[in-house]
Amino acid sequence: MKENPEASRRNFLKKFGAATAAVAVGTNVFARDKHSGLFTYLKRTDAFGPNDKVNLALIGAGGQGSEDTRVALTVPGVKLVAVCDLYDGRLADAKTRWGADIFTTKVYKEILNRKDVDAVIIGTPDFWHQQISIDAMHAGKHVYCEKPMVHGITEGPAVIKAQQETGKIFQVGSQGVSSLGNEKAKELLKSGAIGQLNYAEGFWARRGPVEVWQYPIPADASTQTVDWETYVSNTHKRPFDEKRFFRWRNYTDYGTGMCGDLFVHLFSSLHFITGSYGPEKIYAAGGLRFWHDGREVPDVLLGTFDYGQNDAHPAFNLSLRCNFVDGTSGTTYLRLVGSEGAMDITWDKVVLKRNSTVESEDPFYLEKLKQAGDTNPGRKKMLPPEEITFEAEKGYLGGPYDHMNNFFTAIRNNGKVTEDAVFGYRAAAPALLCNDSYFQNAPMHWNPEKMEKKG
Ligand SMILES: NC(=O)c1ccc[n+]([C@@H]2O[C@H](COP(=O)([O-])OP(=O)(O)OC[C@H]3O[C@@H](n4cnc5c(N)ncnc54)[C@H](O)[C@@H]3O)[C@@H](O)[C@H]2O)c1
Repeated sequence: MKENPEASRRNFLKKFGAATAAVAVGTNVFARDKHSGLFTYLKRTDAFGPNDKVNLALIGAGGQGSEDTRVALTVPGVKLVAVCDLYDGRLADAKTRWGADIFTTKVYKEILNRKDVDAVIIGTPDFWHQQISIDAMHAGKHVYCEKPMVHGITEGPAVIKAQQETGKIFQVGSQGVSSLGNEKAKELLKSGAIGQLNYAEGFWARRGPVEVWQYPIPADASTQTVDWETYVSNTHKRPFDEKRFFRWRNYTDYGTGMCGDLFVHLFSSLHFITGSYGPEKIYAAGGLRFWHDGREVPDVLLGTFDYGQNDAHPAFNLSLRCNFVDGTSGTTYLRLVGSEGAMDITWDKVVLKRNSTVESEDPFYLEKLKQAGDTNPGRKKMLPPEEITFEAEKGYLGGPYDHMNNFFTAIRNNGKVTEDAVFGYRAAAPALLCNDSYFQNAPMHWNPEKMEKKG
């Protein structure tokens, strides 16, 4: 895609108004205070009208499934009727949390057979997502499936097919995609705020045991309280192992490592913001440096991704890093870098930094300087802080609420969601291929448009 930087700059300045334009051309309005920034509040404008009730069931009532359900129940008109989990303790918790009259079971098909269930949240470990999603849609249920949509690169097309055949609403759970922050970043990129995109990056720094997946194991964990046979019924059969059940992220049969757990969120946001279908080339480096606790996945991982040029965006590179032994901690969520600036993007905030160099031969800037009353544009300037913070208004309910709201709104209006099966697969695929690259010690090639592995 060819982009005219001059046009994009004008577009940006026009769109974001005179105050921003003044900053961009280097008037000294803000020059005295290096810390002054412009704050523009992000606002959700679409109103929500509660219509008919949606009856919901939760399958996989652990940490995230429970959190998703809590958020779903804050959307007006949503009622929880049933919960499925393979561990007694989770079912008992569900009744404590949501009422003794909630139907509970260890058999997810009993949930799917219920006529009073309109939609399900799937909060199981990754390796159950595909099968339960497909079964649920064929049973006539709308599905909110946690990320990553699938556990293996070959599993995506069947979910897409089930969604197309059944016409059910299917949404993957990378909440950032529905957030004000992601929306604003998309708008800013389109308006030319950072010029031509050439690079993106994200990283996670963690170090605490729970942060790095050493979750506490309940004292009563046993085959009396856990349905282990069902748990491993779609993967390698093994004797009961409480770590493989409660710390499933560390094992490749059940989880998808750092890529499927964390990188996938950034692929979802990046693809939403740029309109991209995904990278063409994927390569990983990393290793197990510290957490020698039997885990099968690395604790330091770097992923590098080549995005080719197409109608939606120019060619650019993406670098993702995850370090589970980071003594400093501190995480950058997602940064997009272009020829004229960069944006740091979270779900409720975008910090835009623009290049503060005023090019004296740039007629556009010279004209703006003249308009700003500058009679000697050749003279060096006091430059303003070129940082603009877009922040969500106080009371913003957040990306998780917006994502749930989008799901239920699509159900009620027979509408569409952004993060459907095709989008979800395009976000999951580069994450899964990054794992493949790490384990096979080779670059992976992907056709993001056709959603096919090359080579
Ligand atoms: N969107 C997000 O921000 C986010 C955050 C955390 C986790 N997740 C995703 O949510 C999913 C769950 O992660 P978690 O941290 O909640 O894990 P968890 O271990 O806390 O919960 C998983 C639950 O699923 C149950 N389970 C396992 N197999 C089952 C089956 N076949 N049928 C019914 N129940 C089953 C387990 O008993 C457990 O209670 C994962 O796919 C993860 O990637 C998403």
